[in-house]
Amino acid sequence: MHAPLPAPSLLAGDHANLADSACCVAAAGAPWLHLDIMDGHFVPNLTFGPETLTALRRAGLSLFFDTHLMLSEPHRYVEAFAKAGANLISIHIEPAYDHTAALARIRTLGCKNGIVLNPGTPAAAVKHLLPLVDLVLVMTVQPGFGGQSFRADMLPKLAQLAAWRKEFNYGWRLEVDGGVDLRTVRDCRAAGADTFVTGSSFFKATDRAAFIAEIQGLA
Ligand code: DX5
Ligand code: ZN
Repeated sequence: MHAPLPAPSLLAGDHANLADSACCVAAAGAPWLHLDIMDGHFVPNLTFGPETLTALRRAGLSLFFDTHLMLSEPHRYVEAFAKAGANLISIHIEPAYDHTAALARIRTLGCKNGIVLNPGTPAAAVKHLLPLVDLVLVMTVQPGFGGQSFRADMLPKLAQLAAWRKEFNYGWRLEVDGGVDLRTVRDCRAAGADTFVTGSSFFKATDRAAFIAEIQGLA
C-alpha cells in the first residue's frame, strides 16, 4: 500500500486569492493540490478552468496538480489542462465517451491519469480500466460542492478496489474525495485508501501543518 498522501482541495480556499490559498497548502507541507473542475452540467456547480492552473503555475506554485474533471465531456478538455500544468487528470466513468482512449490520451500528454466513481457507481463499473490507470478516485459525497458529510457506505467499495489492487498487483493510488477529515480519514485508510482529498477540513484546521503531518503519519 502507498504511503498516505494528503491532497487539500482549492475549492475550499479563498476564490479571490487562489494563489494565496494554494501557497497555504504548500506551506503546510502537502505535496499535492486537488483542483476541482466543474462544468455546471455533469455537476450542478461551476468552478475554474485551465487558465486558473496556468496562473497558479505563473505565480510560482510547484505543487503536484491533482486535477479532478467533473465534466460531461472530459475528453474535450484534457489537452488544455495538461498544457496548463496538470500533473494528474482524473475523469469520471459515468458520462458516455471513450474512457479507454481518454485515459491513454492523458498519458500521451505527459500526465498521470485517474478514473473516478460517483457514490452510486459500483466498483465493477471500472474493473476493465484498472490495468490502465495511475489512480482510482472514489467519491465519498455526490460531487458538486465542498463541505458535505462523508458517506461511510462507500467504505466497502474502497475495500473492494483495494482487494482487486492486491489480487492483480496493480500500482495505482486509491483516492477518496468528500467529507474527509481527521476522523473519517482513519476509516478510509483502514479500507485501503492512500490519497486523501481534504477541502473544508484542511482550510478550517487551526494548525494546517499539524493536520497534514497527522495524515502523513497514518499507519
Ligand atoms: C466535491 C469535490 C471535492 C471537494 C471536497 O465535488 O470533488 O474535491 O473539494 O470538499 P470537502 O473536503 O469539503 O468535502
Ligand atoms: Zn474533487
